[in-house]
Amino acid sequence: MLLLYGCRNGGEHPFTRRLRELADLLPGLDLVTAFSAPRAQDRCPQDYDYAGRLDLSAIDPLLPQRPLVYLCGSPDFATSMTARLVERGMPRFDVFAEAFASPPIVPQTLKPQTVHVVGTDKSFIWSPELGTLLDAAQAAGLSLPSGCRVGQCESCAMRIVKGDVAQLGGDDGATDQCLTCQTVPLSELTLAL
Ligand code: FES
Repeated sequence: MLLLYGCRNGGEHPFTRRLRELADLLPGLDLVTAFSAPRAQDRCPQDYDYAGRLDLSAIDPLLPQRPLVYLCGSPDFATSMTARLVERGMPRFDVFAEAFASPPIVPQTLKPQTVHVVGTDKSFIWSPELGTLLDAAQAAGLSLPSGCRVGQCESCAMRIVKGDVAQLGGDDGATDQCLTCQTVPLSELTLAL
């Protein structure tokens, strides 16, 4: 297993000790760390393996074995890395990404709204301090489907039976459905799975 880890320097290097422990414990784990802007006190090779951006040529010897790639990082990082991996010959569907994104900011000036969920006998009152529809439903004891909570897996999509919403992650143009992890109600609302 090859773990390519890129960050700016030793001051922004989460899980440093844990990764070293794992590399010692797992002989099959090859840990390669790149610092894009190492500080004077960062030591090579003790703290990092090389300066600069992640060098993806490290995966080339593995390509004949048809490896799977798992990416973690910002949405831009995931997009650019996926493109670079595909350029190197990886099938797009062998690349999996978990993007870190900021939670949506809920405008606190919105008015509370009643939300009904078809197929349940529950309604709940949404208000801005509760967060998104998904957060408010969970606070009311209603478990709605969700996966990533950052607007990417779409497992939280629900049909809008009645009412108006605002999609905080950007409007995708759909008027009859919403991602509850990114959405707040603008009127009394009825949702269905
Ligand atoms: S939970 Fe993944 S998009 Fe909403």
